[in-house]
Amino acid sequence: MTPASTLITNIGELSTQDYAQGPEASVLRDAAVVFEGERISWIGAAADAPAADETMDAGGRAGLPGWVDSHTHLVFAGDRSAEFEARMAGESYAAGGIAVTTAATRAASDYDLTRLLLARVAEAAAGGTTYLETKTGYGLNVQEEQRSARIASTVADQVTFLGAHLVPDGMDAEEYTDLVCTAMLTAVRPYVQWADVFCEQGAFTAEQSRRVLAACRKAGLGLRVHGNQLGYGAGVALAVEFGAASVDHVNYLSDDDVAALAGTWTGWGPGRSGTPGTVATCLPACDLSTRAPLADARRLLDAGVPVALASNCNPGTSYTSSMTFCVATAVLQMGLTVQEAVRAATFGGALALRVHTGEDRDGQRAVGSLAVGHRADLQLLNAPSAAHLAYRPGMPLTGSVWRAGVRVR
Ligand code: NIG
Repeated sequence: MTPASTLITNIGELSTQDYAQGPEASVLRDAAVVFEGERISWIGAAADAPAADETMDAGGRAGLPGWVDSHTHLVFAGDRSAEFEARMAGESYAAGGIAVTTAATRAASDYDLTRLLLARVAEAAAGGTTYLETKTGYGLNVQEEQRSARIASTVADQVTFLGAHLVPDGMDAEEYTDLVCTAMLTAVRPYVQWADVFCEQGAFTAEQSRRVLAACRKAGLGLRVHGNQLGYGAGVALAVEFGAASVDHVNYLSDDDVAALAGTWTGWGPGRSGTPGTVATCLPACDLSTRAPLADARRLLDAGVPVALASNCNPGTSYTSSMTFCVATAVLQMGLTVQEAVRAATFGGALALRVHTGEDRDGQRAVGSLAVGHRADLQLLNAPSAAHLAYRPGMPLTGSVWRAGVRVR
């Protein structure tokens, strides 16, 4: 049974990512946190901590918010390791791979799809992920997209409708786009909070993407865009035009794209006032797994664009939910400082999902940063500082993990 209150004390370095305090003030030394039920009720210097029903001594280890993984595709069946192996042997990534997963997903029972999804979410939690979005997109017809959305909604914190992932074999692209915007959207609507479109050469054109985004916005969904992954294109511009919460991948950005994204953040600051703009979500595990250029997160941050790091866990281009791997890569290969990378994998993801503050989405508590009133999502590392995430890449550094005040690891 979870005690009414829990004090976690002797945290050597606590990276709160409480952006309201400004980036520099968000790392505390010799700190403590108190949980009451699902929420954080106190946070500060260990020497000043109040008593609680239960106390845990962190032994000087580092603490940080649980990871917020804002981009995954976890509802699927089947295996594409042969495709991966072929790609590593020199074949280029083709969007056609999605069709292989669609066939396997359609053939799986509800029981099997749910079991596979639960196992993947448990794997992510074991790696410190405490809040997770996932997408549909391997059903690609009305009945199967609805089934994916329904199953996802029983497990994930937030669900995104990605009917516009690929035009299924044998269908005309315009006809399929119409279907996504009408019967498919109606069928999934009760189960999803967001809509996404794969706006890319070989997937959906700018005009088709615009139709999908307009229909989904009309249906009351928040918007995000898969954009600028395989080349320069209209994804970022569309995301900005529609006020999307995020544009994901962003491997190929023109100066105009970066300026347009930065422009969406004027008026929003550390105090979190104003309306947030479009987050740039970088997916380094996908970039490595497709041998694509890593997204230029440094350039985005320098231009004033908030960045999220997410796993993009999916069977084709990124079969890992390891956020520690993403953080290590962001530091070692993408020019981010340790705290910038941790912020992108926590607060950045929360911002992309609009759960960074208050009780904004479906009455959920804020996640992705540690502050009084926020959800008690905390991880302790088997290390004295967050720097070890990049300093000792690939090592098993995830220690204890709490989700909504409940110890899950
Ligand atoms: O984010 N870009 C589109 N979707 C996935 C790929 C999914 C797959 O290949 O199965 C991605 O990389």
